[in-house]
Amino acid sequence: MARIVGGVGTSHVPSIGAAIDHGKIQDPYWSPLFEGVQPAREWIAEVKPDVAIVVYNDHASRFALDMTPTFAIGTGEQFTPHDEGYGARPVPVCQGDPEFAWHLAESLVLKEEFDIAMVSEMTVDHGLTVPLSLMFGQPHSWPCKIIPLCVNVIQYPQPTALRCYRLGQALRRAIDAYEPDIKVAIFGTGGMSHQLQGERAGLINAEYDKMWLDRMESDPGSLSQISHTELLREAGSEGLEIIMWLIMRGALDSEVRRIHRFYHVPASNTAYGLLVLENA
Ligand code: DHB
Ligand code: FE
Repeated sequence: MARIVGGVGTSHVPSIGAAIDHGKIQDPYWSPLFEGVQPAREWIAEVKPDVAIVVYNDHASRFALDMTPTFAIGTGEQFTPHDEGYGARPVPVCQGDPEFAWHLAESLVLKEEFDIAMVSEMTVDHGLTVPLSLMFGQPHSWPCKIIPLCVNVIQYPQPTALRCYRLGQALRRAIDAYEPDIKVAIFGTGGMSHQLQGERAGLINAEYDKMWLDRMESDPGSLSQISHTELLREAGSEGLEIIMWLIMRGALDSEVRRIHRFYHVPASNTAYGLLVLENA
């Protein structure tokens, strides 16, 4: 049977990817961040998932405002990095797991009544590739298969935090029902507090971020009750991305063990957060 080895919550700030791609991880600006990430890398190298389900948002790359799926799963064989305007990142093409992805889609739609979009042709942007680089460095190929699970946090109306948490719980039942004996990691990406535009551009709310990190471990149900209005006010317009962490958290047991937690400001003009959890 498929088994969850753990969940990773991480921001996906594009400049972190640029720092890796351009050999800047030892720079004084970046080295504290990469040092803080190191224990998570060691953890994933040890647990060796066969597949990572990466919950992320597309930033008007593969999808634009003409077509915005609320939830979409990548069912293809491969996912190539998207050219976001500076050439595609020099990272490996993701190898998908169509059989598992179709199983998840079937369980979500038929058993759980989550009508997720199924996408076979899909490029992936920094929302997905930066977390992979953070966790795996710069290998010739990613060490596991990747299933992209894309969430709309860009176009109003976005799904609620509660809907995301429940999707994670539904995903967990679908993973548990998959027969092949594989190890599955689940990533929730995006956040933490940040706003890239308007008068409050550069907003960082460390206290609020720390509250999220605390409750991701101990009380995710209370986070699932948080409104978009609160998130916009406290975490900034792009800080809303943090709802994707609740999909990861919903897929774990209610009791979890913290493997690693790290928080760092600044990463570009955002707060960087990282959490690695295993089922207790
Ligand atoms: C930036 C973009 C993002 O998508 C994000 O999640 C954080 C920061 C940026 O452009 O700085
Ligand atoms: Fe983002």
